Amino acid sequence: MKSDTSMKSQKNFPKKNKSTGRPPQKQGGRSGARMKGSAAKPAAKLAPKPKKQKKPAASDSPHTQTIQWFPGHMTKTKRQIERDLRLVDAVAEILDARIPISSRNPDIASLTSGKPRVILLNKCDMADKKATRDWVDALSGDKVRVIPVDCKSGRGVERFVPALSELLAEKIDAYRKKGMLNPTMRVMIVGIPNVGKSTFINRIAGKNKAQSADRPGVTRGNQWFTVSKGFEMLDTPGVLWPKFDDQTVGERLAFTGAIKDNIMDIELLAVRLLDLLKELRTPEFIERYSLTDDDLSLPSYELLAVIAKHRGMLVSGGEADTERASATVLDEFRASKLGRITLESPEKK
Ligand code: G4P
Repeated sequence: MKSDTSMKSQKNFPKKNKSTGRPPQKQGGRSGARMKGSAAKPAAKLAPKPKKQKKPAASDSPHTQTIQWFPGHMTKTKRQIERDLRLVDAVAEILDARIPISSRNPDIASLTSGKPRVILLNKCDMADKKATRDWVDALSGDKVRVIPVDCKSGRGVERFVPALSELLAEKIDAYRKKGMLNPTMRVMIVGIPNVGKSTFINRIAGKNKAQSADRPGVTRGNQWFTVSKGFEMLDTPGVLWPKFDDQTVGERLAFTGAIKDNIMDIELLAVRLLDLLKELRTPEFIERYSLTDDDLSLPSYELLAVIAKHRGMLVSGGEADTERASATVLDEFRASKLGRITLESPEKK
């Protein structure tokens, strides 16, 4: 069946909470991130998870939650990137093709301005095909090449080195004219946690750590990889998260699983995701949960209860187990079982 997730249908990405009719609450959130535990793990901290609540009436549910981000090691990471940029000829920026805006650290653009750049739209196997094409067009530029990739299967990755060669052709030529026949071009890779940086590095370089790992002036702990003859890649030190004041960025990172959801109220998150899914109405979503037009016109919390019932997820007394259904909806969205879905369109860049 034909997917209905084209950019056309995504133009209607809801600005308002469809269930309440209210716009999503903007949070004044602090910027940056403070890691809890593992460096690559979430930087989100939410209000303590409430005990099992009574069902919010559609009209009184704000359907939003505060995701706070704290400054911390980000400043150090940014300083390191600034310092190491002097050592590289180009930047490879990995974004999540489903959320190219929210998965981008806005500082990267300004930090790396002036450097030729390859943008890798990763996880394109889970994104809407047309939306990805639109994003390639929107992000491409004079010194910017954009490649959709699926690093898990390796699809598209083979275009990386040719894109770099083309971007750096003048520079390589200039070296050759000076008598350096095989110059080594260096590229720094940047991307937020979970975007697929390690998967990409494994694909492109395997365990090919560059011989010249200890270079003077390079931040200790940095890793250089040989990508192919004449190209080396520097893994970014530290961890970068997007900064945001807009709560939707945090939500989209949570929908895609970039932020782990064991620290947030997954029922609220699932309800917010259902707000979007109801709008997009992919055939996979409708069929998977056997939804009728009447179901789809329900407020999202009630729709969640319908999904729970259709899936036989009940608590004692026969009530819908909405917590379990929330986990299922989020898991199945993340596994692309609800269709190939892109949550952001270039028009709203
Ligand atoms: P990071 O270094 O940027 O933190 O991300 P990492 O490579 O660890 O990838 C995060 C998750 O995203 C991994 O899944 C990885 O398999 C998955 N992934 C990376 N690239 C792609 C892609 O192009 N398509 C899809 N569908 N998935 C991708 P995981 O569940 O955490 O690990 P695993 O069970 O796959 O090993």
